[in-house]
Amino acid sequence: LSGLIDELRTVVEPAHVLTDPDLVGPYVTDWTGRWAGYARAVVRPSTVDQVAAIVRACAKAGAGIVPQGGNTGLVGASVPRGGEVVLSLRRLAEVGPVDLAAAHVRAGAGVTLAQLQAVASDANLRFAVDLSARDSATVGGMIATNAGGMHVLRYGSMRAQVLGVEAVLADGSVLRRMDGLVKDNTGYDLIGLLCGSEGTLGIVTAAQLKLVAAPRFRVTSLVAVAGTASAVSLLARLRSLAPLEAVEIVFADGVDLVCRHAGLPPPFSQPYPCLLVVECAGSTDPTGEMADVIGEGPDVLAVAVASERAGRDKLWSWRERHTETVNALGIPHKLDVTVPIAELAGFERDVRATVSDVAPGSKTILWGHLGDGNLHVNVIGPDPDDDRVDEAVLRLVAARGGSISAEHGIGIAKRNWIGLTRSPADMAAMRAVKAALDPNGILNPGVLFDEGAGRAGSENEGSG
Ligand code: FAD
Ligand code: MLT
Ligand code: ZN
Repeated sequence: LSGLIDELRTVVEPAHVLTDPDLVGPYVTDWTGRWAGYARAVVRPSTVDQVAAIVRACAKAGAGIVPQGGNTGLVGASVPRGGEVVLSLRRLAEVGPVDLAAAHVRAGAGVTLAQLQAVASDANLRFAVDLSARDSATVGGMIATNAGGMHVLRYGSMRAQVLGVEAVLADGSVLRRMDGLVKDNTGYDLIGLLCGSEGTLGIVTAAQLKLVAAPRFRVTSLVAVAGTASAVSLLARLRSLAPLEAVEIVFADGVDLVCRHAGLPPPFSQPYPCLLVVECAGSTDPTGEMADVIGEGPDVLAVAVASERAGRDKLWSWRERHTETVNALGIPHKLDVTVPIAELAGFERDVRATVSDVAPGSKTILWGHLGDGNLHVNVIGPDPDDDRVDEAVLRLVAARGGSISAEHGIGIAKRNWIGLTRSPADMAAMRAVKAALDPNGILNPGVLFDEGAGRAGSENEGSG
């Protein structure tokens, strides 16, 4: 073991090979506090060559590697399970310049979403994916999780923004497809394969990312409705709005908790069961057409509208501050799921009833990306390692034809249930891909596939 640490210290400056528990601490516990493990070291390279040399050294030593960006992932995949090396990509933080004619930009894996958004905005363009963890989430992590966020209904998720990738494979070789070509039909889509691979197939070191036009006008409405069924019928009308960017859903109990946690006033003078954040953006002012569509139906109980930045941020805050609020209440069981939109209202009803049955006395907080049929089911109460509620909710999802992970991934949190919504043939194909690209299972062992848990890197647990 000390041989590996010594070798890593020849690859990167010794100060960037961390073994002191005080320094290692923030890298080995996840954002929710539900997942934590022991790392034999945390290594912080700053170039692709250093990443490749680290991977070769770990492969030689049979040490598992956990790639990590901002450590905002929510399924336990960014922290070690037992004795792996945490490979932090945050120092690969170079971004730009923007290629204006091609509308794309090169970004290192460690560039944060907020940095990327700022660079795009300076070029009068915009990066289309947005999520509340923008100050910490990195390009590498967002590619590895195929992150979604608020604008998927208009622009797609991370995979749709990635024109090129540079990645280090498990044998230390470098896959480099960084020409930024929009059209490239030369065999298997290796870039797409890395998107959503959760650090199990390769370590992303850089990417070419698509940029889109920055809208001149942006208008946000907070719309109160009676419940999920009304929200879905309003969604059907909203689909006719060409500039529609976001339709997010929150519920009265969650909003009340957010107000108490964040010290915010209630959004309306009286509470309503369900609120939607609806946002439109474009080159002309969408206020009128938005108001026409929202105002059309009897299902709308109240509306607040803002077009200036401060007002819009305020309307978003009742939605965006859910994640931190839930974390402040305890260690959450986070079940990020999607069902067909026609099933959403029934699913919401069933999920509340099921959680009450399986975990009486627990608190269920729901919110999500309504336009994508994506609900975040958060349960506070059950012990972190009591996963009966997780299983019950995921079985409901499968019964309604949904997916057990809409955007956060499988990680270790859901690996026991991946077979609920992926067939044996799917699983065999995924295992074959994993075996071909990482035959010794050193990349993020235990993520996605249960039987890989701890295979590489666990033998020397506790001896580092
Ligand atoms: P990490 O957490 O460090 O890692 C996540 C996964 O990617 C792990 O499997 C890790 O091994 C792998 N990984 C990291 N970097 C690399 C790399 N360079 N190469 C290969 N693998 C790598 N997610 C959404 O999809 N939509 C949301 O709306 C959303 N909102 C969030 C809001 C908050 C407040 C928080 C805390 C999280 C939210 N997330 C959301 C989850 C999270 O932000 C995303 O999954 C994000 O993409 C993770 O980026 P990261 O850099 O923090 O990755
Ligand atoms: C969100 O949309 O708020 C995120 O995906 C984070 C979460 O589910 O907590
Ligand atoms: Zn989300």
